[in-house]
Amino acid sequence: MEWKPQKSSSNPLHLEITNYMKKKILNGEWTIGTKIPSQRILANQFEVNRSTIVTALDELSADGLVESKVGSGTWVVNNTWSLLASTPPPDWISYVRSGIHQPNIGIIQKINEAEAYPNIIRLGTGELSPDLLPNEQTKKFLQIDVNDSLSLSYQEPKGSLELRETISHYLKRKGIEAAPASILIVSGALQALQLISIGLLKRGSVIFHETPSYLNSVHVFQSAGMNLFGIPLDNEGIKYESIGRLKRQHHASLLYTIPSFHNPTGNLMSEKRRHQLLEVCKKEALPIIEDDVYGELWLDSPPPKPLKANDKQGNVLYIGSVSKSLSPGLRIGWIVGPEPVIDRLADIKMQTDYGSSSLSQYVVNKWMKDELYEDYLNQVRVELKSRRDYTVEILNTYFSDIAVWNIPKGGFYIWLQIQSNISIQKLFELALKEGILLNPGTVYDKNEQRHLRLSYSFASLAELEEGLIRLSELIKGLK
Ligand SMILES: Cc1ncc(COP(=O)(O)O)c(C=O)c1O
Repeated sequence: MEWKPQKSSSNPLHLEITNYMKKKILNGEWTIGTKIPSQRILANQFEVNRSTIVTALDELSADGLVESKVGSGTWVVNNTWSLLASTPPPDWISYVRSGIHQPNIGIIQKINEAEAYPNIIRLGTGELSPDLLPNEQTKKFLQIDVNDSLSLSYQEPKGSLELRETISHYLKRKGIEAAPASILIVSGALQALQLISIGLLKRGSVIFHETPSYLNSVHVFQSAGMNLFGIPLDNEGIKYESIGRLKRQHHASLLYTIPSFHNPTGNLMSEKRRHQLLEVCKKEALPIIEDDVYGELWLDSPPPKPLKANDKQGNVLYIGSVSKSLSPGLRIGWIVGPEPVIDRLADIKMQTDYGSSSLSQYVVNKWMKDELYEDYLNQVRVELKSRRDYTVEILNTYFSDIAVWNIPKGGFYIWLQIQSNISIQKLFELALKEGILLNPGTVYDKNEQRHLRLSYSFASLAELEEGLIRLSELIKGLK
């Protein structure tokens, strides 16, 4: 909700809020059955006292438009159309409940909502801070020269040829041989997963992944009727020894892995483990999805080559994206694989969105086609490294008696394991009340009841310090 009451208005604040909500109910934006956000959230959003919200809701209730149930919240129960019409309006809430795609898990819905709160300190957000994103250079690219070609048309099914040629060159530096015909431009890595789930797999298929994993935080495969199966990780990466046995036992169709700077643990798969994993998957004819969205964000030394670089059999579908390194908002990623697979996914993409934004593809091509991208990445690495070191220093000072962690060699995340048996859910709620937003480990594996995914990429240094010190006090208070 962008709207806020005008404090300069001659109307009392609660009346402005009542009128705003009434309008939403009367024009059908809040249909019957809609749950109104909690008083705390509304007070936060509208920057007013909670008592103002209570008064506004009382008025709506007196008009018969909303009803509150103790402990469960306030709901829209009427609108003027429902009072006037002889047939009831459609029951949108039942449509919403029966949609095929699963909703986000509750805690992620809360995180997504709370990210918009003013002055919130985001200690878990998985993106670069706006200060680190290259706005000035990107603005220059957008001052498009009259002599430059710019396509405003639909692009070909696999995406702009210029960009695919650029990515083909870029991948060569990582040891990956991929002709433009084997590359599909997608609207972010998440879309690559979506296309794979509906384009290559049957309902009921089983997907192996590291546990914990980013994959548990989105419902891409589950919504398409597939089942996830977690395989443990150690410091060298996913444990490969049991994969053969488990594949035969569970008839797995694919293995999804994030070898470099894994989300959420920050782990880096060793070179040896990469070879072992490739070997076992080759032997078991188990295709791999390699998610390399963090691969450029090494802080100490470059990671081993991607699995795809040593895949001579077309066993690996390789996913990259500019979201974590250059801009999540441009929504550009790529998937590399055998041509028939890429053709199939391109055909589905055409049926889904007719291709990614041509303007975004133009900008990403400008960035990636020469040295500029590498120069920029070097700056980002320096910044991220100093943020990581700063965060580790704070952890050493304030967390050494309450938690353990590994120092990541790249990416954004520190996987913090709290030593005492406190409730992570309670910690999340308490921290949120104090203006600190956390990513509990349960988002990435429901059994990870003692972990937080900390991120040093988004909050400012001052926020990291303030937020982490307050977090350490909260944890100690809960012990
Ligand atoms: C491992 C991993 N893959 C994919 C994504 C989604 O990336 P994109 O913004 O390119 O869709 C994320 C975002 O958090 C991620 O952590």
